[in-house]
Amino acid sequence: MTQGRLAGRFIAVTGAAQGIGQAIAADFRSEGADLFLLDIDGDALAQAVSDLSASPGGRIYHAAADIADPARVAEVFADAAAQAGRSLDGLVNNAGVNVFHAPLDTSAAEWQRAFAINLEGAWSCARAVLPGMIAARTGSIVNIASTHALTIIPGTFPYPVVKHALLGLTKSLALEYAGQGVRVNAIAPGYVATQKVLDWWHSQPDPAAARAATLALHPQGRIAEVGEIARAATFMISDECRFMTASCLTIDGGLSQRQHG
Ligand SMILES: NC(=O)c1ccc[n+]([C@@H]2O[C@H](COP(=O)([O-])OP(=O)(O)OC[C@H]3O[C@@H](n4cnc5c(N)ncnc54)[C@H](O)[C@@H]3O)[C@@H](O)[C@H]2O)c1
Repeated sequence: MTQGRLAGRFIAVTGAAQGIGQAIAADFRSEGADLFLLDIDGDALAQAVSDLSASPGGRIYHAAADIADPARVAEVFADAAAQAGRSLDGLVNNAGVNVFHAPLDTSAAEWQRAFAINLEGAWSCARAVLPGMIAARTGSIVNIASTHALTIIPGTFPYPVVKHALLGLTKSLALEYAGQGVRVNAIAPGYVATQKVLDWWHSQPDPAAARAATLALHPQGRIAEVGEIARAATFMISDECRFMTASCLTIDGGLSQRQHG
């Protein structure tokens, strides 16, 4: 596709099989980007690629991979660049998992899982694309953090520790490579209407009350739609905000600024 705000771009999105990642992939495609989509769930990813391909757009490359496996990440990113005959100029580190415990109830395995996927996975993917971006002297990385990167909800340990660290990774890489044309930013969503959130409501003894309580936390009285996060990702990955780096855009309907309910 030669038209659109992302025409001519080649952008990777992790965790693209569903939820926020799938919405970001769809928005990037509608803006003319070629895509490399990655997810641990190969079947769901194949379905998402098939759904995306139903609308016109650029090339879609995809791979099933666990971002917690650095060797596999390096392999699939190299394969995608080889197949496309070009290096990636954009990356959205979206894949992530909720790991929620009380601190003293957190096993070593759960601590390790939270960091391996939500932080080290993002670093492995950034590591795979940075050399090409630096060589081309252009590139944009967007890390999907969370309002948990800014404030703490008790009982969600160590997720906020990892998301704070993801902001640290964002700022660190941004400053290291600002002089070489690479921008690195983050988005901090509040609650987003994904299956994960719907499942959590339905797991509660009174799902309707759980939903109402979540909505009531938000000054706007609602939670985000996935497309609202995707639109912001499109802006941040594009050249429209080329003086933005080391920044975090909060999209939470005011949630994280509210001191009392
Ligand atoms: N949904 C929310 O309310 C919300 C709010 C703030 C931030 N976030 C963040 O947004 C991102 C996406 O969240 P979502 O709600 O769309 O999640 P989701 O669970 O709906 O989708 C996540 C995708 O990532 C994939 N994935 C999980 N582990 C992976 C791994 N090890 N390797 C490769 N892929 C893997 C899953 O298969 C899935 O397709 C996450 O980083 C999450 O922390 C979500």
